[in-house]
Amino acid sequence: MSNVMNDERIPNNVNLSSDKRLQRALEAWQPNFLTWWRDMGPAEFQADDIYLRTAISASSDGWAHFDYVKMPDYRWGIFLADPVQNRTIGFGDHIGEPVWQEVPGEHRNALRRLIVTQGDTEPASVEQQRLLGLTAPSMYDMRNLFQVNVEEGRHLWAMVYLLHTYFGRDGREEAEALLQRRSGDADKPRILGAFNEPCTDWLSFFMFTFFTDRDGKFQLLALAESAFDPLSRTTRFMLTEEAHHMFVGETGVGRIVERTAQQMSEHKIERPDDARKLGLIDLQTIQRYLNLWYSLSLDLFGGEISSNAAHFFATGLKGRAKEEEYADHTALEGAYPMEVVRERRLVRDDIPLRNAMNEQVRDKYVVDCQRGVDKWNRMIESFGVPFRLTLPNRRFHRQIGLFSDLHFSPSGDLISDEAWQAQQGTWLPSESDKAYVRSLMKPAMPKPNEMAHWLAAPKQGIRGKPVDFEYVRR
Ligand SMILES: [Fe+2]
Ligand SMILES: [Fe+2]
Repeated sequence: MSNVMNDERIPNNVNLSSDKRLQRALEAWQPNFLTWWRDMGPAEFQADDIYLRTAISASSDGWAHFDYVKMPDYRWGIFLADPVQNRTIGFGDHIGEPVWQEVPGEHRNALRRLIVTQGDTEPASVEQQRLLGLTAPSMYDMRNLFQVNVEEGRHLWAMVYLLHTYFGRDGREEAEALLQRRSGDADKPRILGAFNEPCTDWLSFFMFTFFTDRDGKFQLLALAESAFDPLSRTTRFMLTEEAHHMFVGETGVGRIVERTAQQMSEHKIERPDDARKLGLIDLQTIQRYLNLWYSLSLDLFGGEISSNAAHFFATGLKGRAKEEEYADHTALEGAYPMEVVRERRLVRDDIPLRNAMNEQVRDKYVVDCQRGVDKWNRMIESFGVPFRLTLPNRRFHRQIGLFSDLHFSPSGDLISDEAWQAQQGTWLPSESDKAYVRSLMKPAMPKPNEMAHWLAAPKQGIRGKPVDFEYVRR
């Protein structure tokens, strides 16, 4: 196991103090990160004590420490999963060869781009979520928001470590640029679409952490396969933290669904308007938010047919999530049958496997999302409410890839522009949906035992603490 240095300015298990140049470079970046955190991190609450977990090592038992900490004092550290001895490349043209500890010259640009693109999502999500603390439905939820935020900050550190260590001056410039772009900014937006969308209410936040953080999980899994071993080790440890983010999303949406279904059953109501009269988020609105965040997140996997993805796979830069589950790791033969659009019609085509890498990872993502939706539906069913949430077809509302120029219904049918205009308000959150959801977000600091009316209390608190524990202390 690698040695952990927690008493240094930058906690780490990469023996940072042995490389003074690197250490100085990262210590020079640190104040810029903190400036960014103060400007773009959670609004207010920076002087409060938050009950947070902090990564202190990468070992499977006890990698985290829980205690009160003020967010600006959070110990953002650099932790890589322990190396796998004699690890070899698991896919592509170089399968079986030893993994790389340095960046091969010919892959420098592509690898840097992959790392920057991943790195950019981390601060972006913190920016998107910066106002949510002001309307938290409970102290428990507020704490979870801040936990996600500080860990996205650490994920930024993880990527910046790679940029500084392996990419010289270009890497240092990219690390600065990661602090310069701003989510939703017209002039200097974040790189990927979903990370420029506003996320200013808690229904959106829970959808984001369910769907968009789950894209993150699959990207990290694909990068964990990389032949560039430091990237693999970094992303493997990030996945440990990511699990909690998706838990926040799954249980967050689940608690809203539970509350709505329970009240619908108790008051014997069926119509969405009647649910709203009770101050609940009606299931139809939840479905529209689901449609939005699911489709935005599907885009993050990239085009269905991608020569870039084929190149990443061939060279060993980026594999498929859980590559070990596939029988053939070279993907040179065989085809992926795909529906494509020709002359405004859907037709079946066979795509060479390597060109369909994005779609194969997207397939796994869809299955993973469906598992959560099934769970929510079991909750609705348990109250005898005749409504089911569904994932829309993956062609619905896409901005990237084969289907982005055309319109499709949630069931995947190709429809005219007029039909889309006429119906999109029933499929995606309308302005009045957004205004209604916003009206439920109350700008008040919750007391430890308070829970907003529109969601159920969680089953348990954090790390054995009660749900009404004082997770945030003024
Ligand atoms: Fe992250
Ligand atoms: Fe995350």
